[in-house]
Amino acid sequence: RTPSTPDGNPEMADAAPGPLDRPSEPPLIRREDYRPFDWLVPEIRLDFTLGLERTLVVATLKVERNPNGEPASEIRLNGDGLTPLDVTVDGHASNSWRMEGSDLLVDLPGDAHEIRFATEIAPVANSQLMGLYASNGMLCTQCEAEGFRRITFFPDRPDVLSTYTVRMEGPKDAFPVLLSNGNRIAAGGGEDGTHWAEWHDPWPKPSYLFALVAGDLVARKDRFTTMSGREVDLAIWVRAEDLDRTGHAMESLIKSMKWDEQVFGREYDLDQFNIVAVGDFNMGAMENKGLNVFNTKYVLADPETATDGDYDGIEGVIAHEYFHNWSGNRVTCRDWFQLSLKEGFTVLRDQLFSQDMQGEAVKRIEDVRLLRSVQFPEDSGPLAHPIRPDSFREIGNFYTSTVYNKGAEVIRMMRTMAGPERFREGTDLYFGRHDGEAATCEDFIRAMEDGAGLDLAQFRLWYSQAGTPKVEVSLAHEGEAATLTLRQTVPVTPGQPDKQPMPIPLRLALLDRETGRHNGEQLIVLDKPEQVHRFEGFAAKPVLSVNRGFSAPVAIERVIDSDDLVFLAKNDDDAFARYEAMQELIVGHLVAVVEGGLDERVQDAARSSIAEVMRVIVTDAALDDSMRGELMMLPGQTYIAEQLTVADPGAIHAAREALKGWLAKSLEMELVALHERASGISSGMDRAARGARKVKTQALVFLAAGNPELAERMAAAQYDAADTMTDRQGALMVLAGLAGPQRTHKLIDFYNRFQGDALVIDKWFSLQAGSLHPHVIEHVHALAQHPDFNIKNPNRVRSLYMAFTGTPLGFHAADGEGYRMIADLILALDPINASTAARFVPPLGRWRRIEPGRAALMRGELERIAAHADLSRDTFEQVTRSLG
Ligand code: ARG
Ligand code: ZN
Repeated sequence: RTPSTPDGNPEMADAAPGPLDRPSEPPLIRREDYRPFDWLVPEIRLDFTLGLERTLVVATLKVERNPNGEPASEIRLNGDGLTPLDVTVDGHASNSWRMEGSDLLVDLPGDAHEIRFATEIAPVANSQLMGLYASNGMLCTQCEAEGFRRITFFPDRPDVLSTYTVRMEGPKDAFPVLLSNGNRIAAGGGEDGTHWAEWHDPWPKPSYLFALVAGDLVARKDRFTTMSGREVDLAIWVRAEDLDRTGHAMESLIKSMKWDEQVFGREYDLDQFNIVAVGDFNMGAMENKGLNVFNTKYVLADPETATDGDYDGIEGVIAHEYFHNWSGNRVTCRDWFQLSLKEGFTVLRDQLFSQDMQGEAVKRIEDVRLLRSVQFPEDSGPLAHPIRPDSFREIGNFYTSTVYNKGAEVIRMMRTMAGPERFREGTDLYFGRHDGEAATCEDFIRAMEDGAGLDLAQFRLWYSQAGTPKVEVSLAHEGEAATLTLRQTVPVTPGQPDKQPMPIPLRLALLDRETGRHNGEQLIVLDKPEQVHRFEGFAAKPVLSVNRGFSAPVAIERVIDSDDLVFLAKNDDDAFARYEAMQELIVGHLVAVVEGGLDERVQDAARSSIAEVMRVIVTDAALDDSMRGELMMLPGQTYIAEQLTVADPGAIHAAREALKGWLAKSLEMELVALHERASGISSGMDRAARGARKVKTQALVFLAAGNPELAERMAAAQYDAADTMTDRQGALMVLAGLAGPQRTHKLIDFYNRFQGDALVIDKWFSLQAGSLHPHVIEHVHALAQHPDFNIKNPNRVRSLYMAFTGTPLGFHAADGEGYRMIADLILALDPINASTAARFVPPLGRWRRIEPGRAALMRGELERIAAHADLSRDTFEQVTRSLG
């Protein structure tokens, strides 16, 4: 087939700019410019003739005028790198269309028409992994946010909802399994070795939720009966050799379905629910209606190849995508500025689910750790944006920790203020009011006001203001009264010089210094710049426990004696607050060391008091090991850097290692005993066994800094005895940072043992690239030449280079070699996979907060990238914002 060029169409003379010749910078899209689309597309039919090299797509759109739109004489159908073939309108070949940029514009004189056209695509050549692409001989799609326009022309925006019918046909041997959204309504075969299937999805949906999969796959199948008695066929599709690693994913799916009925009253709404695992995937997973597509990383697990963390990740992501069926699919987003409407809410839902599955305290601590190590730096850097952004050039750059994780915290605060029952009334109202609609964050807020009975007038600022609020806390005592003073400031962020005070819900308690008890918890909402609260009836000054459960995503700055922190770290009955006190004690010490000027005796005294608390934590028989493992974890490098206006990564690393060494020397016996006791707890997936594995590796992490020979012996023994990936990976992580001979022995053994198992070889890359070894840069250079490195596979790229961006001695090497390596990667990857390339820009963007020598080198690399003419929209936007 050749493109049908309409004769004498003057618009065709000026060749439309191709996707790469960008005359000027990509346009800025603004939230305030939203207009409804002029047309409705109630129905679409897609006919696919599938092939890896070449796939033909025939699209038939029923369109009608949108009563809420402008009267228009044409329809704009978005395309990306497509050429329209055989355009017909109402069954007649049409000449009245033209291309504008990569969009197809078709003249439409009447109020309702049927438009049909074909497009041809080359899945194997699609290295961006957006649209229809090939992975391991199968075909699959990723459409969110704007991938559908790489398959066919369409109003590719989330507020155009259509009913989809999809027929696909292809060679039966290459593609024995043919899947799409909804229910399979017909299937058949031809004599020529081809077969076909037709799927219909009764629920109107935006194009970003479309999916198609064709491949040689097998399924783990199960059934679920919903609360109203609907029978649902569940299937998880994988390659034959992976089938025995799908049990945990299926269990997680069934638990998610049950939980969403019980906790949110949400029931599944189709007869089939399919999940497909693919090895080449840009993100974690995708919630396409009835056909979720997953990165294999979030599906496949068995104890030999997946860690306890991997198991949790699978449970959480399976739940997340399943929960999107309501928060995202039944109620979708009006435009991409509303992304947090579905993502923030769905992250909160998956967090609450995981808390119920695994215990609230540990899950909460993990979530806060992630927020503070990724979202806080984003919020204090050049890429800071509100959870509902005001503008973007490439929406792919806004799938951020701010939109997802801070978005979840914002909705969690509403839940904290309303309480779980009234919160549920709010969500019921939201789902009921907006079912079948493309909604906004404002719609959600209003449903919360009406349903949960909250006044959120001022609270809306959480949607529009970026930056992590700072809350200064001090407690005074006089006579019988304790006086609490709270002061908030919201920092200046790019484009937002003036900030208003926001409502900050703080759960707090006043602990008796003698007994460690308190008379109940209070919720105080700080909504002014400064507030003073008096508490009567305290003969002695109590110890304040504040922001319990991390009730607000803020940075607390409190005036508190280190003795009181020690007291809280030992006694606080709120698990998060206990963890927090420990973190604060350690951060306070490390910051003081890095800032310098402390004499040795003061430093040693601080280390000794930290060691004293750590001794209690390591030996406290009343603590369960899961929680003990959390309390033992030192604050990470980036979180420490966040506490400093200007950070020296080398100095932070040195201070942190010195503390680890001190703890190891002071507590060597206790740590060895802990490791020994934990090693005696039998393997298994129960809480006790998982906790034991966590503290075992944690003990080795400390010992490695104080007694490397001992740690090497113990880690090698743990590696050899390992019957789970958790133990094996933990041991290898410790060895990878050490210099002794066991490092090489075990790395070789690990590779040979798991060669060919992509997810485990990813770990092998990460363990080396993310290590504290002084030669990490040389290791990464060598690994990039390894035959198993493949720049086209996002998991492999991330496993090598994302891990590396966290290394103080590698990425932050003082001569800039690490920065150069990441800039080189961005330039090499950008033409292959722009969205993955752009994700490596933020680590370089932190330059303003780093000491001047390194900052200049980081900036230099950003400028070198910016000087390239052909940058993708994704990388262009991230680099220019980072320099800005
Ligand atoms: N909606 C998906 C999820 O969070 C993420 C898809 C993002 N895809 C992308 N290309 N940005 O579950
Ligand atoms: Zn999501």
